[in-house]
Amino acid sequence: MAMQEQAIAWRRAGEELGFVPTMGALHAGHDALVERARRENQRVVVSIFVNPRQFGPAEDLSRYPRPFDADRARLEALGVDAIFHPPVEQIYPPAFKTTVEPGPLAKVLEGEIRPGHFAGVLTVVLKLFNLTQPKRAYFGQKDFQQVVLVRQLVRDFGLPIRIVTVPTIREPDGLAMSSRNAYLDPEQRRLAATIHRALLTAVDRFQAGESDPSALEGAAHAVLQTVPEMAVQYLSVVEETTLRPPAHVQRGNVLAVAVKLGSTRLIDNVVFGAERV
Ligand code: PAJ
Repeated sequence: MAMQEQAIAWRRAGEELGFVPTMGALHAGHDALVERARRENQRVVVSIFVNPRQFGPAEDLSRYPRPFDADRARLEALGVDAIFHPPVEQIYPPAFKTTVEPGPLAKVLEGEIRPGHFAGVLTVVLKLFNLTQPKRAYFGQKDFQQVVLVRQLVRDFGLPIRIVTVPTIREPDGLAMSSRNAYLDPEQRRLAATIHRALLTAVDRFQAGESDPSALEGAAHAVLQTVPEMAVQYLSVVEETTLRPPAHVQRGNVLAVAVKLGSTRLIDNVVFGAERV
């Protein structure tokens, strides 16, 4: 049965569907989303689709890892009801014309460095939502601006979908799990742990009473600067829904960072005052 038909049949039978969109190359971060979806829904669908529209011309679309057999085995072990792995022509047939334009929140942070990225993300997410008809959809805090924009999509278009944010899953040394970590050589991989250490330094300063955004950004920056191989693209405290810089940092505000380590781009963030960072 086609994905959308299957989803509609489940819904008619009164079964709630949880949806986890991914680009594959699955790791423990993706597992956490699937496990949460499993707990909260009768049916779970995971999509694996490397979405060409969210990659810039100079980005890593062609070398993005696609270990489909391993991904399928992993998802079967987690007990998902369906894996939706459409070919590019199913999502973007030749006659495809419409793009979601996400507006100003897509112009800062990631959006400033990756123009068009969030238009590509929201366009595919809207299509995947329509094909899978979920009651709930699961996204990682790791890509925090993506969650902000998906929530805006849901609000703006009145989609009957609950968006659930799942905390970032990390390697033992603190590096946020990412499919792109596979690009790092052993030395870069070791240095990459500095990103989380830098963010935690700012969290410690906040806990100790510092609320000046520049002071907190500066504290994290100083740690990153100990690694000359690391080029910081942005490192900013923002309000969690407006993405604007706060005058004074409050609980819930986010310190977001993007760095380049060699040719690999890594992003991460922490939430001030959260139990888990
Ligand atoms: P992808 O990078 O494969 O990530 C799929 C989902 O897993 C996203 O919601 C992401 O935030 C989450 N995730 C990734 N690493 C995580 C970690 N360490 N801890 C917790 N969650 C993590 O994000 C995308 O794909 C795409 O943009 C997509 C939404 C599928 C649209 O193409």
